Amino acid sequence: MTSKNIFQSLLMLALVAMNVSCASQKDILNPKKVSNVDLLLSAMTIEEKVGQMTQLNIDVVCEGEVYKLTEPHRLNATKLHQALVDYHVGSILNCGGHAYPREQWHEIIGGIQKVATTETNLKIPILYGIDAIHGANYVTGSTLFPQQLAQAATFNPSLTQEGGRITAYETRAAGIPWNFSPVLDVGRNKNWSRFFETFGEDPYVCSVFGSALVRGYQGGNGSSVDNVHVAACMKHFLGYSGTRTGFDRTPAIISDIELREIYRPSFQAAIDAGALTVMINSGEINGIPVHANPKILIDLLRTEMGFKGLAVTDWEDIIKLVKNHRVAVDLKEATYLAVMAGIDMCMVPNDYDFTKYLIELVKEGRISEERLNVSVRRILETKNKLGLFENAMPPSIAAFPEFASEKHKVAALLTAEESITLLENKNNILPLKKDAKIFVTGQAANSMTLLNGAWTRTWQGTDAQFDDATKNTIYEALLSKNKNVTFNEVCGLETMNKMNGNPLEMAMNADVIVVCVGELPSTELPGNIYDLELSKAQQEYVKMLQSTMKPVVLVLVENRPRIVRDIVDGCSAVVMAYQPGDFGGDALANILYGDVNPSGKLPFTYPKFQVGTSTYDHKYTETFDKDFGNKAFQPQWEFGHGLSYSNVQYENLQVSYESEDMGGEIFIRVDVVNPSERSVKEGVLVFATDEVASVTPSVKKLKAFQKIELAPKQRRIVEFSISKEDLKFIGKDAQPIFESGAFQFHVGSLTQRLIIQ
Ligand code: BGC
Repeated sequence: MTSKNIFQSLLMLALVAMNVSCASQKDILNPKKVSNVDLLLSAMTIEEKVGQMTQLNIDVVCEGEVYKLTEPHRLNATKLHQALVDYHVGSILNCGGHAYPREQWHEIIGGIQKVATTETNLKIPILYGIDAIHGANYVTGSTLFPQQLAQAATFNPSLTQEGGRITAYETRAAGIPWNFSPVLDVGRNKNWSRFFETFGEDPYVCSVFGSALVRGYQGGNGSSVDNVHVAACMKHFLGYSGTRTGFDRTPAIISDIELREIYRPSFQAAIDAGALTVMINSGEINGIPVHANPKILIDLLRTEMGFKGLAVTDWEDIIKLVKNHRVAVDLKEATYLAVMAGIDMCMVPNDYDFTKYLIELVKEGRISEERLNVSVRRILETKNKLGLFENAMPPSIAAFPEFASEKHKVAALLTAEESITLLENKNNILPLKKDAKIFVTGQAANSMTLLNGAWTRTWQGTDAQFDDATKNTIYEALLSKNKNVTFNEVCGLETMNKMNGNPLEMAMNADVIVVCVGELPSTELPGNIYDLELSKAQQEYVKMLQSTMKPVVLVLVENRPRIVRDIVDGCSAVVMAYQPGDFGGDALANILYGDVNPSGKLPFTYPKFQVGTSTYDHKYTETFDKDFGNKAFQPQWEFGHGLSYSNVQYENLQVSYESEDMGGEIFIRVDVVNPSERSVKEGVLVFATDEVASVTPSVKKLKAFQKIELAPKQRRIVEFSISKEDLKFIGKDAQPIFESGAFQFHVGSLTQRLIIQ
């Protein structure tokens, strides 16, 4: 039977169930008149519709208790029957606490889909969702990429798009068609426990990288998704990262202007790229939880931004309306609030309360069946676009020969290499000489856990039993290039370890010390911190190493930029590694030894102080200092900062404006020169300053970027064209406007001023 036939017989079944007339049966043969999804919808009971809107945690249908599953995790037939047949559940998510091999996924997904498509009344397949955040991290053996923050540092979105394609392939290889990624929250608060999950602090960078990732996941514009791609899920709409404290899910105060200037663009770009689904922010904005706010979920998301896909809540967010936010007296009221605010599916995820209360609310007439239809149609359409009605069963292992292939590994390595950012390099201490004696130390030096970060085989990514021993830590990768490398961890993340031998002696015997510091992977609530400074123990240790007077190379392996002000001056070089993934050790070794020329640039402002250092696109008032000068903005390293071994130069910046009747384009060209004997990649960044505007302008804003490659001694003209549209800002009435006047354009240290009418 062909796949079309299967869908058609499914519809016949639906028609039988609803007892339709001959006239409407003809409609099946005329899909233009009534869509298949509409026919299916019209055959559904209220219970079946509510079931489609229910999303359960995998634990609910497995052997064992929720959060305490019996190993190895297996489906429980009775629980599965209850969920799918009795409650008509439409979606399941997650793994039961850790990654599974593909075979196990196939057993789980296959078992679920078999019940859904053979034992339920309408045989509607399940929409299974997972967090594949930096690769298919919950599929054992998959290719792990650098975290999003590191990816942004490449300033090369084509790497991210390819990484998205690979992640989709390896996720689909497990039989999972829906990925809760990308994170499109803009990283404005460096304390935020999910900072590493963002593409950094700039809305434009987040838009370009976010939409590239959506295209990579979905493999097209979202009109349909083939069986080697997945549906993307933009998250978390909207303003989640704008928390005042940086603690997870704490209040954000965001003006209408800022909401549209900073937080909206990345989501708009992803919608324009065809993103099929969205997950809602668990937090509150201006006192209203987003899950209960129709102004955000309907007026903004649907009407203003034109999103047509499926909106899922985040974890337990209807429960949180009662327990945490306290805007509803009980779960039934919370269910009413969230559904009327515009959610389509509830990530309940551990019981049937949402299901029961929503059925009651419809039967009592408080929520109409038409309201349910709107959501259920979106859910069924998503399943249809993913081809699940045609085949929901997991593929064979043989159908995915590229899983964790050499090609995929190379893509992850290349992304890590282009992300690692050289922040300081005094007296060209780097690259290291191939025969130099190196002492490698610090807790991040020999840890795969720290290189990968959270969402690695487990939620927090801290369980070292899931590390892949075949991958190289920083120490192992350095050793593979130079046998003259000694290692002693000495310092843990928070305290000095008991020392084996004398580390100072090891340091004294080396030509160069490479000290790798950082923080334990974490995300969400467990990632909350009270102090952005690097731990005292690690700072003291670096100072101790500096006292040897040997050159110290400081390598930062961090979730977010920890303050290192007091130890930077005593270092010869500083390298930001972010959380570069399974190939981060190799990438770093390639860079330290000069086999790869570093080309990463910071996608955020690296703070020097706890207070006062905001973002690169701050307002002028943020620069006024206590001496009445303008030196208050004092980052450790600026947004866009990143060195190479080539000392790339910029010359001859030319900016011209074509009048409106000629198209209104602004042309920017600049010569980029590689004076060195090495080839080099360079992210060329174009900023604009609007000198005067009716809403206080930022000192500058990123408007365009390109990653180019220069051969040794090559000079290249790099051209950009931007439009007046790109120079708009959100005006007093919260709408985008262009105001004519003087603009400055900056590339490198060059600036040109232009009047644009
Ligand atoms: C996180 C989401 C994630 C979801 C499902 C939540 O706690 O905030 O980002 O997609 O869990 O795992």
